[in-house]
Amino acid sequence: MALASSSLTTVSGFDPESIRGDFPILQTRLHASGDNPGVPLVYLDNAATTQRPRQVIQSLVDVYEKHYANVHRGIHWLSDQSTDLYEEAREKVRTFINAREREEVIFTHGTTESINCVARSWGDANVRAGDEVLLSEMEHHANLVPWYQLAERTGCKVRHLPITDDGRLVMDALPQVLSERTRLVGITAVSNVLGTINPLPEIIRQAHAAGAKVLVDAAQSVPHMATDVQSLDCDFLAFSGHKMLGPSGVGILYGKRALLEEMPPFLGGGSMIRRVRLDGFEPADLPAKFEAGTPPIVPAIGLGAAIDYINQIGLDAIHAHELLLTRRAHDVLEALDAGVRFLGPKPEEKAGIVSFTLKNVHAHDVAQLLDRAGVAVRAGHHCTMPLHKRLSCTSSSRASFYFYNTLGEVETFGRALGDALRIFKRK
Ligand code: ALA
Repeated sequence: MALASSSLTTVSGFDPESIRGDFPILQTRLHASGDNPGVPLVYLDNAATTQRPRQVIQSLVDVYEKHYANVHRGIHWLSDQSTDLYEEAREKVRTFINAREREEVIFTHGTTESINCVARSWGDANVRAGDEVLLSEMEHHANLVPWYQLAERTGCKVRHLPITDDGRLVMDALPQVLSERTRLVGITAVSNVLGTINPLPEIIRQAHAAGAKVLVDAAQSVPHMATDVQSLDCDFLAFSGHKMLGPSGVGILYGKRALLEEMPPFLGGGSMIRRVRLDGFEPADLPAKFEAGTPPIVPAIGLGAAIDYINQIGLDAIHAHELLLTRRAHDVLEALDAGVRFLGPKPEEKAGIVSFTLKNVHAHDVAQLLDRAGVAVRAGHHCTMPLHKRLSCTSSSRASFYFYNTLGEVETFGRALGDALRIFKRK
């Protein structure tokens, strides 16, 4: 296949091939039978969830084998060990996103729960009928539905910042949709479909000037590029462990301390209380106030190990390598001559996410045919039905990269798609 551009093929000092040795699942071969050795797994569904290196898997085994007990409860040696590891993980997260204080880092079960916590706790306490919440047309359902539910409870209005046909925010429209009625702006840092990297500093500056708080859905950005909540000056930021080498079942809600202090607890139960009487309760201090029940102890410790691993690789190298993969994927898809339409801007303006449609071939057929060649991509609306409607399609196929993917895998993806399309044409 002749490739038009993408002359750069490596990021200096970065070797995905050697990194892959740390990821047992990436050695998988699929569809083997009899003498047929099958095909290697080409895992390009990283925006849905990433894979884990041995170091993270081993950290989970170590906790269960040597250190596991409930945290912040037992007055015994094992509980102290478990608590220390859990709190060390909080400190690793704090440093990773440069939060000012450990009290600003809340362990949740994922981005969705983090956003729901803000919508329920901060939203119910601060938003009234007539107020507005501003989102964008490119939000994931997790940053839409909790606000629609808030609107049902309070009578507030949800508005949307529009996007261009190539999937960028219409920033010129921001002053029109932002007003003194806007209580909160909820915005994704990176679209899970378009890959668009949004201009957060400018959005946050304008939102604050209008008196609104800002929640950033950072599920697709924190794993791939450096995040500094203090320089961003966002009020809330949410992300998940499983999209950044960590276990599923753990997420983070960052919030500015003053806001978290004022907010009522989201979930009630053990741990989140200072005192309980027969006629009521007093909530605990931060961060326990928002960590009701037994928290995701082992996933949180695993997330800490994932952060260690990512720090070793370096986010600048990760971002640069993913840009190479994205450029190559665009070239490979264009060379197919199959009526490809990219959802989202050009590679230089986005993260490692390539969503596309092909003329006359359904996204699910694309994913199924690719699967036969061992290539895992996602197909469907990717939890963004309004975005797909805005772009006049019901579904798309999506290849999404992480630092362990190689240019060779992108070539395999292109070849497999070319083969699949030839089969399709013959039918
Ligand atoms: N939010 C995840 C995705 O985009 C699940 O696939």
